Amino acid sequence: MAYHTEVSAWKTAASEAQAIRTAVFVQEQGVDVVLERDGRDPTCLHVLVRDGAGQALATGRLLPDDHIGRLAVLASVRGKGLGSLALTALVSAAYRRGARVVRLNAQADAEAFYRRHGFVASGAVFMEAGIAHLPMSLHLQGLDDAP
Ligand SMILES: CC(C)(COP(=O)(O)OP(=O)(O)OC[C@H]1O[C@@H](n2cnc3c(N)ncnc32)[C@H](O)[C@@H]1OP(=O)(O)O)[C@@H](O)C(=O)NCCC(=O)NCCS
Repeated sequence: MAYHTEVSAWKTAASEAQAIRTAVFVQEQGVDVVLERDGRDPTCLHVLVRDGAGQALATGRLLPDDHIGRLAVLASVRGKGLGSLALTALVSAAYRRGARVVRLNAQADAEAFYRRHGFVASGAVFMEAGIAHLPMSLHLQGLDDAP
């Protein structure tokens, strides 16, 4: 199956991104909908990963301060590389606009996923929305040397 990513403003991504996030964070993980919809989306860049038929299956966002968040893949299609595609697209978008470090608060259960992408722990575990999180960061200077 071929997948493709697109990075866009909230007004373009809103309905599909929100549907994925509601399914994953609100319905699956039990996060309060008020916490999930924090009002920051219009300030962010958003990624959607689509299958060959155009259906959006994964999303995530990049905040103005180069934090990545709300990374979510529909449960039925996890483990196929879609989360990696979404994360890579957001890191690339941050790099292209000049960021040399990106940060995120990983759900503790997903720490290994982010480590696979080069993120390292940068703080102590804390609780948010009833879920343990770990601050992580990725320094991007090495991309300057990429072929
Ligand atoms: C975390 C998440 C985005 C990963 O997306 P994905 O599409 O399943 O991940 P990928 O297929 O790109 O990568 C899979 C690899 O990452 C690792 N991985 C994925 N999710 C993981 C997790 N929750 N914990 C540990 N490792 C994980 C696996 O080791 C897997 O490696 P393998 O190929 O050797 O089996 C997805 O599981 C998800 O949406 N989870 C629910 C929401 C969530 O927790 N979001 C993160 C908020 S910080």
